[in-house]
Amino acid sequence: SPLRTIVQQMPKAELHIHIEGSLEPELIFALAQRNNVSLAYPSVEALRAAYAFTDLQSFLDIYYAGASVLLKEQDFYDMTAAYLQRAAADNVRHAEIFFDPQTHTARGVPMQAVIDGIYRACQDSPVSATLILSFLRHLPEEDAFATLEAALPHRDKFIGIGLDSSERGNPPEKFARVFARCKELGFHLVAHAGEEGPPAYISTALDTLQVERIDHGVRCTDDAALVQRLAREQVALTVCPLSNIKLCVFGDMGQHNLLQLLDAGIMATVNSDDPAYFGGYMNANFEAAFEALPLGLHHAQRLARNSFAASFLPPAQKQAYL
Ligand code: ADE
Ligand code: ZN
Repeated sequence: SPLRTIVQQMPKAELHIHIEGSLEPELIFALAQRNNVSLAYPSVEALRAAYAFTDLQSFLDIYYAGASVLLKEQDFYDMTAAYLQRAAADNVRHAEIFFDPQTHTARGVPMQAVIDGIYRACQDSPVSATLILSFLRHLPEEDAFATLEAALPHRDKFIGIGLDSSERGNPPEKFARVFARCKELGFHLVAHAGEEGPPAYISTALDTLQVERIDHGVRCTDDAALVQRLAREQVALTVCPLSNIKLCVFGDMGQHNLLQLLDAGIMATVNSDDPAYFGGYMNANFEAAFEALPLGLHHAQRLARNSFAASFLPPAQKQAYL
């Protein structure tokens, strides 16, 4: 349809992509062979068949297992280059990419290999790309402080700090001190909140962590006053439609609240989260949402505009897209 073509072709920014979640099964097997890492699955097909998730944790277990093949700087480069090539094909002009250093440093991979490999691929790409270092919230705040310390020699290579992994039972306030330190250091701040966790986590991410965007945030609609606040303050939500279906946040795409969020005046964006695991990259996410929900041309234009408006691009670069 004409709308589908417009959605595919419009220039867009991706603001919620975990680079480890872009690791396709074929590349997992190629890197396992290159690095002599043994996998719990005999084939690409068997691994892909295991991608049947019931909730966030069931996904995270297999996502961290997949990342175990990443050992050398070149592995991080190859993964990131593959993502950026795929993003360019979907007319993504700018990407703000999460990476989870603790997933790698805990296995003895040097911080330098992680950051330099990802950063070098970003520099070599025609897509504008910046990095957001994300702390794993299932681990203690002390570990986040140690990760920040280890990353600071590379501070010119990332622009922001995020918070991801197992949400329920790990509220934002667990990371109040390390986020305060990151704010002093001048980093942009974001956090996953209201994916599986309650709307209160969205409020405390804003009030206690002082984040500038909320990753996911879809559970805000359980609290009408919070929806009003997000609209009034124009807090960006980086929504990930296919992720929400695969992790059973909504029963099916027809039940997703993306249209409700937009029509409530919230600055929602569409993103892929972990595209290798959830069935597609940016355009697949747009297409699935536009197919299942009565979204129109003005919603498409709004989503494209929001993606740049909510980005951390410098004002002059941002303005060129608005
Ligand atoms: N890490 C990678 N993807 C994630 C998600 N959707 N939620 C929390 N942590 C994640
Ligand atoms: Zn995410």
